[in-house]
Amino acid sequence: MGLGGLRFKGMTILRRWYNYLLRLYSPYLVPRYFALVPAAGSGSRFGNGTPKQYWTLGGKPLLYHALRELAAHRFIDQVFVVLAPDDAQFSSVASETLGGKIRPLFCGGQTRAASVHNGLLAVRDAVANDDWMLVHDAARPCLSAGALERLIHELAADEAGGLLAIPVADTLKRSDDQARVAATVHRDGLWQAQTPQMFRYSVLCAALDACGPAAVTDEAGAVEKLGLKPKLVMGEARNLKVTYPDDLELAALILENAWTSQERGAATGDKSQ
Ligand code: C5P
Repeated sequence: MGLGGLRFKGMTILRRWYNYLLRLYSPYLVPRYFALVPAAGSGSRFGNGTPKQYWTLGGKPLLYHALRELAAHRFIDQVFVVLAPDDAQFSSVASETLGGKIRPLFCGGQTRAASVHNGLLAVRDAVANDDWMLVHDAARPCLSAGALERLIHELAADEAGGLLAIPVADTLKRSDDQARVAATVHRDGLWQAQTPQMFRYSVLCAALDACGPAAVTDEAGAVEKLGLKPKLVMGEARNLKVTYPDDLELAALILENAWTSQERGAATGDKSQ
């Protein structure tokens, strides 16, 4: 073999090694994106005994709608769904239209924070410390692709991470125990927290380790206790949390309207819909 042939062979071996090392270490060099959806709540404030995540909206469970945009996003590698250990209904959600990214984890806890914490521990071998984790409520079925994109885009280089939220529009009243106004709370600087909430895996683990399963109602609250300041990214009113029957009706209208706009956009070739 001549000098040229040797050089070619050398380059090929080097390239193979380079590709191998890149594949091995890229999870640690380039942060990846994962989603985690706590869906292990057992109660229903609607009183019919069916857990809220399995209430039907447009012929599909709420949980299906909550997973749809996350599973469709090009950056998100996998969507972990934290279910109650005895959940027997998830098969009604897992469907071909969600693609192959959905990973059920049967490790839900007593509270939302405990479910998230258990889910984080269950995926520790699949996720690196610097990877992003987007935690999204199963009861928020109307997250739009635009709001999800904004969250990911605005936080990509952020130290603390953050969450979707909307500025409070109404004047707020604090009540006494007789349901009478004890004080008017100025709405300036007040935001309503939504999900997804997006933090580095290690930050989320440290935050939830530090504050215990009952102490917080969202991830941002736990992260704040570490001394970090999560960024507020503009959310949307449509990203409501379904809590009462009226919310279901509103969610159905929102989704119907979104689907009609998409169909209209597809028919006219307008991608902005
Ligand atoms: O009841 P709430 O609306 O606050 O629940 C928010 C989210 O937390 C829901 O997606 C619910 O399924 C989830 N959750 C959970 N484990 C619990 C309680 C709630 O995953 N023990």
